[in-house]
Amino acid sequence: MKTVNIGLLGLGTVGGGTATVLKRNADEITRRTGCHIKVSHAAAKDLSVAESLGLSDCKLSDDANQVIQDPQVDIIVELIGGYEPARSFVLQAIEQGKHVVTANKALIAKHGNEIFAAAQKKGVSVCYEASVAGGIPIIKTMREGLSANKINWLAGIINGTGNFILTEMRDKGRDFADVLKEAQELGYAEADPTFDVEGIDAAHKLAILASLAFGMPLHFEKVYTEGISKISADDVVYANQLGYRIKHLGLAIRAKDGIEMRVHPTLIPDTRLIANVDGVMNAVLVHCDALGPSLYYGAGAGAEPTASAVVADIIDLARSLDMDNAHRIPQLAFQNDAIKEQKILDIDQIETAYYIRLTAKDEPGVMAEISDILGHAGISMEAIIQKPPVDDSGDVPVVLLTQKVKEHKMNAALEQISALEHVQDDVLRIRVESLK
Ligand code: HSE
Repeated sequence: MKTVNIGLLGLGTVGGGTATVLKRNADEITRRTGCHIKVSHAAAKDLSVAESLGLSDCKLSDDANQVIQDPQVDIIVELIGGYEPARSFVLQAIEQGKHVVTANKALIAKHGNEIFAAAQKKGVSVCYEASVAGGIPIIKTMREGLSANKINWLAGIINGTGNFILTEMRDKGRDFADVLKEAQELGYAEADPTFDVEGIDAAHKLAILASLAFGMPLHFEKVYTEGISKISADDVVYANQLGYRIKHLGLAIRAKDGIEMRVHPTLIPDTRLIANVDGVMNAVLVHCDALGPSLYYGAGAGAEPTASAVVADIIDLARSLDMDNAHRIPQLAFQNDAIKEQKILDIDQIETAYYIRLTAKDEPGVMAEISDILGHAGISMEAIIQKPPVDDSGDVPVVLLTQKVKEHKMNAALEQISALEHVQDDVLRIRVESLK
């Protein structure tokens, strides 16, 4: 029986999970592929874990180049993460004519166009299922299962750490820093956790999903990105009272005037299934013309859930090692020569509804002034609620829900509202999506 040799770069959380799953499920994988898949060479800074991962009979090296240059290795599995040296290693592996599997969303989002072009030239494949939503097979779904459809929009909870933080804040009233620390200890958070909290990790993943949905080159730099650090416990409570949940969503929308790509905290009706995706779990809701909405849910981080996607890619490659690229499913779901640039809208051109929270003096006429500004801007209100005072200052929180409006119109109205004498200038705005 044929043996497919894996060169593993990185033995951290996902590298360890990958070695474990390959070993534990070896018989089942052989039944699926008709070959033996084994890690034949691994590289990591810290090789002391190799024995406990059952890798004592494979070659070990502290230099990734040794693995990339190893002629025995058929597939390089890059599980180092980050932009460099991962980019150089992947390009070198392609240059050596080796197929690549990676879980690295940052790498694909930022350098995917260059990497896919190099792979195409060399006739090898770069698989990246684990880069988005951990173990959920969303890339296979979009490249294959949904290929009959025109995709209208997608919305994803694609950062487990952020979702875990928002869930714990809502359910247990825990504070932000305390929950983040727990997510780091559980191995969910990025090496730099601001990537999770400020939405950069989700933006990496959204850029990949948007390209797969609309057949366009990767444009991570054009994803509008806003984090969750300004969301207060009060907002979580007010949103609940209004029948909404606050989720950190990634949205890719085929709008009338262009493509919207944005990551930001979002109020969504609490009756939507995706509003009830809690903890570290991820979910992607895809809206297509033929199928309508479909929701994909599962573990978005962690050693074995992520390894599930990495090993599935390895299995796909093992089954088709000698196939030429013309017979493979295209990397970004559309034929290479059909991938085309599309107009990506600036954030002030998007259209959405808004939740606004501001602090105003509890005096007659203030609400009327606010409604007047919104009315003149042509912004319809769904609700305006004055909350009870939180202290003796004479100030009260006011919460507004608006209907859909272009963001630049809302920005202009908010500028006028914060300039009102009886309104404090730290007006908070959270976008609202019905996800119908
Ligand atoms: N830091 C990421 C998350 C890991 O929390 O979702 C998976 O990409």
